[in-house]
Amino acid sequence: MPELLLALDCGTTGARALLIDAGGAVLSGAKQPIPSSFPSPGRVEQDGEQVWSICRSVIACALDQAGRSMQDVAAIGVTTQRSSTVLWDRATGHPVAPILVWSDLRGMDRYKQLRAAGFMLWPQVPAAKLEAALDLVPDGRARMARGDLCWGTLDSYLIFRLTGGGAHVTDIGSAWLSGYIGYPDHAGWNPALIVHQGLEAGLFPAIADSWGPIGQTDPSLFGASVPVTAVIADQQAGMLAHGRLSAGAWKATYGTSGVLMASTGATPVSPHRTIPIQAMTKTGEDISWCVEGMVISCGAFLNWLCRDMGMFADAAALSDAAGSVPDTHGVIVRPSLQGLGAPHGRFHERALISGLDAGANRAHVARAALQGIAYRMMEIARAVAATPGLSTPDHLPVDGGVSNSEPLLQMQADALGMPVRRHLVKEATAYGAAIAAGLGFGVIAVADLPRFARYDAEFTPRIGRDKAEAIYHAWAKIALA
Ligand code: G3P
Repeated sequence: MPELLLALDCGTTGARALLIDAGGAVLSGAKQPIPSSFPSPGRVEQDGEQVWSICRSVIACALDQAGRSMQDVAAIGVTTQRSSTVLWDRATGHPVAPILVWSDLRGMDRYKQLRAAGFMLWPQVPAAKLEAALDLVPDGRARMARGDLCWGTLDSYLIFRLTGGGAHVTDIGSAWLSGYIGYPDHAGWNPALIVHQGLEAGLFPAIADSWGPIGQTDPSLFGASVPVTAVIADQQAGMLAHGRLSAGAWKATYGTSGVLMASTGATPVSPHRTIPIQAMTKTGEDISWCVEGMVISCGAFLNWLCRDMGMFADAAALSDAAGSVPDTHGVIVRPSLQGLGAPHGRFHERALISGLDAGANRAHVARAALQGIAYRMMEIARAVAATPGLSTPDHLPVDGGVSNSEPLLQMQADALGMPVRRHLVKEATAYGAAIAAGLGFGVIAVADLPRFARYDAEFTPRIGRDKAEAIYHAWAKIALA
């Protein structure tokens, strides 16, 4: 009897597959990087066929590592980076244009026009870029009119491929961050925006429950047909890993981006528009809501220092260097390669490294980069805490690949003035997707969620509030000027 749960988690810079049992024990995990190209300033693209091939490969590796086959898998959950635009051929499943990644800012002008026309958007969302993507497809509009094309965020595309074209779906979290949801006037896709852009409703996926029956995998892929029982946005999946979806639950995920999210339960509410309301999950008619703020370049900035600047072999070496010095020697980093996110919303800004003198070295730059992330996250936490009905938690649960950096989490605890607790499974978005698969398959109940909130370390503040505030003000004077 198959009893394992498999997650496919395709983030911005890497794909992971995680195999767990219904008790939450991790049997194996495989990860591979996903290359992006940056064809001109502000643009970020990926090759959809390559992304699919990497996803297939990590699934095969995770099964292999555990000495298992797809026959042992009871259900699959899919989670991905949100807001990326994929257009593909309905008959073949092959992409017909590059994936426009969420951090691609080519929709900046279109976003301004659409906002002026009354549509509530953000520059990164597919609604600001889908027309540009269609323009990249030869005869794109005609092919769309004939019903030959599908559009979706990455979750939608990967499930289409996994099910051999059997399911064209997404979930509410990814749909919400596409910019095409018309809530509160329409609980589904916004017909006014679709008509305004001259699009066809048939281009759009169905909005499925975040967990429940979705489709069956194509048996020719992995030798067995397995039910796909969860489709959930990556940041939202992270909330499941921390064991709570109810109002007042907080978490921060340090991945390619850094996202702090707090659940507002059944009520969509935000303190102000720089802290966007997000749909979290949908089951039946019930939608649960949250607010979030994003450090747009978190791991992305560290990778850039390592790979493009050649300063460190990898993020672990960067973190070790940061931990080897007591302070930043006055170096200030604003980690905003693709804009300065919440609560500033200054998307035209780019990253900066400032305050370098002849005594500054690589370790100071590394520490300043982590400090910049910690203080950006602190700004978001303060803004989120102003949400009606929410209060500041007594600790911050965290996860994500970058949470391997202990100097970062110590600086985060110092900046926030509260303990930071790190999830035992750093790849908590994948863990959450596997848990969601178990919910959808019926082997995990919502009441079981708290037992998946397992932590391997806690970081408590080591400096006083006066010092933390002084460091922040010195940082903000340069970084936010
Ligand atoms: O909205 C984009 C976000 O989902 C990206 O997630 O983990 O790739 O930073 P990540």
